[in-house]
Amino acid sequence: MSTQESYPIDVEAIRADFPILDRTVGGDVTTPGESSEDTEPLVYLDNGATSQTPRPVVEAIVDYYYGYNANVHRGIHQLSQEASVAYEEAHDRVAEFINAEGREEIVFTKNTTESMNLVAYAWGLEELGPGDSVITTQMEHHASLVTWQQICKRTGAEIRFIEVDENGRLDMDHAAELIDESTEMVSLVHVSNTLGTVNPVAEITEMAHDVGAYAFVDGAQAVPTRPVDVAAIDADFYAFSGHKMLGPTGIGVLYGKEAILESMQPYLYGGDMIRKVTYEDSTWEDLPWKFEAGTPNIAQAVGLHAAIDYLDDIGMANVQAHEELLAEYAYDRLSDHDDVEIYGPPGDDRGGLVAFNVDGVHAHDLSSILNDYAVAIRAGDHCTQPLHDTLGTAASARASFYIYNTREEIDALVEAVDSARQLFG
Ligand SMILES: Cc1ncc(COP(=O)(O)O)c(C=O)c1O
Repeated sequence: MSTQESYPIDVEAIRADFPILDRTVGGDVTTPGESSEDTEPLVYLDNGATSQTPRPVVEAIVDYYYGYNANVHRGIHQLSQEASVAYEEAHDRVAEFINAEGREEIVFTKNTTESMNLVAYAWGLEELGPGDSVITTQMEHHASLVTWQQICKRTGAEIRFIEVDENGRLDMDHAAELIDESTEMVSLVHVSNTLGTVNPVAEITEMAHDVGAYAFVDGAQAVPTRPVDVAAIDADFYAFSGHKMLGPTGIGVLYGKEAILESMQPYLYGGDMIRKVTYEDSTWEDLPWKFEAGTPNIAQAVGLHAAIDYLDDIGMANVQAHEELLAEYAYDRLSDHDDVEIYGPPGDDRGGLVAFNVDGVHAHDLSSILNDYAVAIRAGDHCTQPLHDTLGTAASARASFYIYNTREEIDALVEAVDSARQLFG
């Protein structure tokens, strides 16, 4: 079996759609986009932060700007109508992709962080108060942790954290203990961006509903990498970002159940989100426009639509299989070394990323040396500082994979880690 045949997807054909994967890097920053001297082929393993963008997505955005760029919902003229159709159809496409009931349940935001803040401000500030609790987990990204922490401070609600066990999984007994009659919101990450843990989000949503609380799932690492069905999970809110799933930056999604979104006050006020305005008062547009004040991210919506088409052509089950294959391969290769500590569950039970430390080499130094070998990974706390405290380290190195990555690239990572180890003796 050739290497190519042994992947669940056609990696070679996919790579051809990503011009950036043809460039070389040499460690030094020169003019952005230009290769420096003494260069090597780029090995891009920082997909958990931002994925790369294939030609069809860039072309869809170019077609929009060259062909029908106009403001939406404001013009009778043809270009505005065409832009409006494209913008609205992007909502429909997202709804179909995650099995929401329709565009009313899909609000476009800037990113996952803004989706989280929208609910925290529009729902949390109104509904939470002393005696209420918000339950989240020790493995939350700051986008969720800091947002609920601060909203709880402002409202007097209590925030509680479900513990992570020694295998990087949620302690479900602790979850059952914490989720009680005082709970109004349970907010948790679907796939941890540090541990790679895939959380039982449907089970926890059910626990939230049993006590009359809402559930919010942070799907920033899940929607890009596996099939997600919001109806099956039954969460009340679900958030993710376009830039981690082949789409452009500047667009995120908030899914919310229609009746709940309907019951919430707007988050931002202004144009486009109103129906009738007088000097005394205003009324709001229908969903989802009620939550999309001002000129929205139209080009980005067009790009996200194209990104979803691209992923759907591959098939999300195949994307997941590829992610799991690479995660297990990386886990096995890295754990060959006694001085490497890998965080999170075993290699055969995780999302497509591996965070680790090499004894005696700070993650930042490791990342910097890897950069000299043209291997791009992330080093730091990955926006999970409290989790890193719990793990007993300030920082870790993280390699995260996507549809265009290969085993050979993971071999390049491991070789570069070996070189760093030698350098640090
Ligand atoms: C699990 C998780 N949640 C939230 C975010 C925040 O995403 P964004 O920066 O696009 O808002 C990230 C980004 O790394 C993430 O990995």
